[in-house]
Amino acid sequence: MLSPLRVGVAGLGTVGTSVLRRLDGQSGALRQRTGRDIVVTAVAARSRDKDRDLDLTPFQWFDDPVAMARSSQIDLFVELMGGSEGEAKRAVQAALESGKPVVTANKALLAHHGMALARLAEANHAALAFEASVAGGIPIVKTLREGLAGNQVESVQGILNGTCNYILTRMEEEGLGFAQCLDEAQRLGYAEADPSFDVDGFDTAHKLAILATLAFGVALDISSLHVEGIRGITPADLSAAHELGYRIKLLGIARRSENRIDGRVHPTMVPKSSALAQVGGVTNAVTIYADAVRELTLIGPGAGGEATASAVVADIADIARGVRSAPLGMPVDELEPTRVMPVREHEGGYYIRLNVRDTPGAVARIATRMAERGISFESIVQKQAPRRGGESGTVPVVLITHRTHESALGAALDAVTIDGYIADKPQVMRIESR
Ligand SMILES: NC(=O)c1ccc[n+]([C@@H]2O[C@H](COP(=O)([O-])OP(=O)(O)OC[C@H]3O[C@@H](n4cnc5c(N)ncnc54)[C@H](OP(=O)(O)O)[C@@H]3O)[C@@H](O)[C@H]2O)c1
Repeated sequence: MLSPLRVGVAGLGTVGTSVLRRLDGQSGALRQRTGRDIVVTAVAARSRDKDRDLDLTPFQWFDDPVAMARSSQIDLFVELMGGSEGEAKRAVQAALESGKPVVTANKALLAHHGMALARLAEANHAALAFEASVAGGIPIVKTLREGLAGNQVESVQGILNGTCNYILTRMEEEGLGFAQCLDEAQRLGYAEADPSFDVDGFDTAHKLAILATLAFGVALDISSLHVEGIRGITPADLSAAHELGYRIKLLGIARRSENRIDGRVHPTMVPKSSALAQVGGVTNAVTIYADAVRELTLIGPGAGGEATASAVVADIADIARGVRSAPLGMPVDELEPTRVMPVREHEGGYYIRLNVRDTPGAVARIATRMAERGISFESIVQKQAPRRGGESGTVPVVLITHRTHESALGAALDAVTIDGYIADKPQVMRIESR
């Protein structure tokens, strides 16, 4: 049998403590599966005195995770502190520079410094594994990097943020507003005190940047993504979507479009019959379209200590077995530069909700403005005025367009706004039919 793999774990919070418990509880099975013992020898966190409901006496304690990363007491450094800068970045760099493999769950670190860290890992012949950084317990990194290595991937799209999916699900089921559902998500511990990272789409963008690199062999570049969040979605949109046979999901979408990448995070109308539409609450899901497998959807827990620890321990087991893949699927120097397709060039169907002034001929005039730019409709739903001839004097109108260009739609809606037929900013959402 090989000598034991000595592991140092930096970060003893939700994920770190679950990893320690899982390594302990699964030690026999892991020995059988990897052919060696996996032994935690060192741990690091900020506060030594915090009660973590764990016996830490068998482990050497480090106040400084960078010192632990360099220590001769460990063969593998596990980073579970979080944050794209500071100690997490310094410690991962220190471990890789000393030739030690690294396992991390840190999507922010990967999204911002993935290229440099992968290069450092390659130069030092060390593994850099990050299964837990995208979609928690769903093995999506391995699926794209190893499982689908024989495919040409056409697109990857997913529900990658459980907080947003929870909020949208509650809004749809209960007819509640965004703010009320966000409060509820915070009370239940699904959303942070500062929820902007989740609800404004940045967390999804971090994960999508990683998936796009693995799917298409392009440089990891978060700045190339178009990002919109879910704050502007109203119960009226969710009920209109429902009536028209759709659900609204915050999706991260990456698609190869000729020699460019169309990478977007935004609220999206998806047909109720699609796999992603079935996924409610905090659950995550990713659908991959690829030439050999056609369509593949993975659904599962995207966060939480246990699910995330499952992915971290899988990476640790790979390293114990001696598996070392190129972190980003191929050597960093072979990744193509990311050529971005600007979102104004997007082509597809659109949902548009307008508050139309209750004047004769307004809807016909709007349809004419759209037709002038080649936009036609799959459906037009004119709702009853909230109070006919009353205070508001507007009628909600929902339009679903046939496939059109985003730039043409923008120009048509500008013209409609100048005409004065609508009372406020149009609500526009892209439709993904596959
Ligand atoms: N939670 C999830 O469901 C989930 C899912 C997927 C990925 N992740 C990722 O996993 C990582 C950890 O998340 P988490 O939820 O476990 O975080 P957490 O509960 O906040 O735990 C963070 C841990 O890191 C330690 N720490 C922070 N800064 C440190 C520093 N400068 N030096 C030493 N220790 C430091 C903290 O020490 P103290 O305890 O002493 O304060 C704490 O133990 C993050 O990258 C996160 O994005 C989390």
